[in-house]
Amino acid sequence: MSRRFYVTTAIDYANGDPHQGHAYEKIGADAIARYHRLLGDQVRFCMGMDEHGQKVAQAAAANDIAPQEQVDRISARFERMWAKLCVSNDRWVRTTQPHHKRGVKALIERIHQRNPDDFYEKTYEGWYCVGCELFKREGEIVDGRCVLHPTRELQWTEERNWFFRLTKYQAFLQAHFDAHPDFLRPEARRNEMLALLESGLEDISITRARLSWAIPFPLPSASGETQGTWVWFDALPNYLTDTGYPDGDWEAWWPAQLHVVGKDIVRLHAIIWPAMLQAAGLPLPERVWGHGFVLLGGERFSKSSGMGLDLDEAIDRYGPDAFRYFLLREVPWDADGNFSWERFAERYTAELANSVGNLASRTLQLVAKFRGGETPPVDARPDTAVEQAVAEYRREMDALLLHRASEAAMGLVRHANAFVADTAPWAMAKEPGRAGELDATLNAMVRYVAVMAVLLFPFIPAKMEELWRRVAGERPMPRIDELATLDVSGWRVTPGDPLFPRPDPAKATA
Ligand code: MSP
Repeated sequence: MSRRFYVTTAIDYANGDPHQGHAYEKIGADAIARYHRLLGDQVRFCMGMDEHGQKVAQAAAANDIAPQEQVDRISARFERMWAKLCVSNDRWVRTTQPHHKRGVKALIERIHQRNPDDFYEKTYEGWYCVGCELFKREGEIVDGRCVLHPTRELQWTEERNWFFRLTKYQAFLQAHFDAHPDFLRPEARRNEMLALLESGLEDISITRARLSWAIPFPLPSASGETQGTWVWFDALPNYLTDTGYPDGDWEAWWPAQLHVVGKDIVRLHAIIWPAMLQAAGLPLPERVWGHGFVLLGGERFSKSSGMGLDLDEAIDRYGPDAFRYFLLREVPWDADGNFSWERFAERYTAELANSVGNLASRTLQLVAKFRGGETPPVDARPDTAVEQAVAEYRREMDALLLHRASEAAMGLVRHANAFVADTAPWAMAKEPGRAGELDATLNAMVRYVAVMAVLLFPFIPAKMEELWRRVAGERPMPRIDELATLDVSGWRVTPGDPLFPRPDPAKATA
């Protein structure tokens, strides 16, 4: 029976255009979703936009347009970008959708019904960072600015708000972390959250006075005023409302198997969101992954820090697949990494054009030249290099170490290229007595190419889909567990243009 696998990414603020940081998260999650489809799982993959709150309202005001018009435009731009990058999300959630608003209201009311004491009113004062949409503590402020958004002014805020009694869930969260060592990964993120729990949680303000670009908080204040729901209390439930909650068959998909988010918002996902769910008596997501940042010259990409490198241009230089491959190889999925054109050019030439591209073109051309395009049939023999690479790839993918999984696939590609160089099938072809040997060699080469296409498909889906067609025609891609015994005998192959053409030297320097 196929397992269900519900994976989500953070929903991006609709205050500006997508950048490399957003893209990194989406293509990483896409590689995971595609891998699970290759396992035969039933996958639901949700992404979307975070459209309420001060940050979005301010951006709309700066652009002199109504907030709804702004979020409509930006949502369309993000969706176009993810399609361009071949991201295979089958869900697109927007927090201004009526269904989402109803779901948030239902969730808050459910918490209130079950734990009436969890919400209370209190006057609060503190520094609010609109960039993070969070109140900041002392250690997070340097020179009067938020460390993550140094170009923004902090706002001193004094108002009476609704609070959520997060402190009540401290012991529950500690026990959950203890009982589920894999709940939050990688290890560094888990340690940060354990330290935070150790130092003690604080209750959090969950409404904002005079915030009209928000979901109205369903409980009226003692003064009679309806406040706007704090944007995180509105955004986190998107993962739940997308399953249909509170209507219909939402339990068919909830809880999610995995939330993929950046390291800056791990606390929201691994502490606050689980506490909200526990307060509502709902199951917790199985896993949260806190990836690192894509940096440019050591600084993180972000709109507010003014770091720019046009995403469309960055994708167009070598194409969407190469862009995906580069980011997911260069920036380890469990740490930070730098974006640099030099490294991009090096990896493109060495790994995509030479290793992957050459293996594919040599194999298909040799089969065409010496066997009329038909892969010679041989008795299928297990190939330990394939078995080992697939096993390693699966181990790394299951541990969500994407950079190591692509390395396992590339290890097989290197092995296959060395095999071709060592066996020199072009020399065999000159000796009629070695026809059987040539058959076996060409068969092994086609198998390497077919396995490579499947293992690299989650990372470079368009090119590997194209390669798969050239090798396998209309046959569907096999599941990962079918690779070790894949029999390519008799497959008709079709050589084509280079998958990764050499770049135009005029465009190769930044
Ligand atoms: N709207 C919130 C998330 C709500 S989820 C219920 C938010 N939006 S964001 O647009 O600021 O960031 C969206 C995601 O992109 C986050 O996971 C964030 O960590 C990630 N990234 C933003 N800049 C990044 C890099 N430079 N590198 C990698 N990912 C980073 O936070």
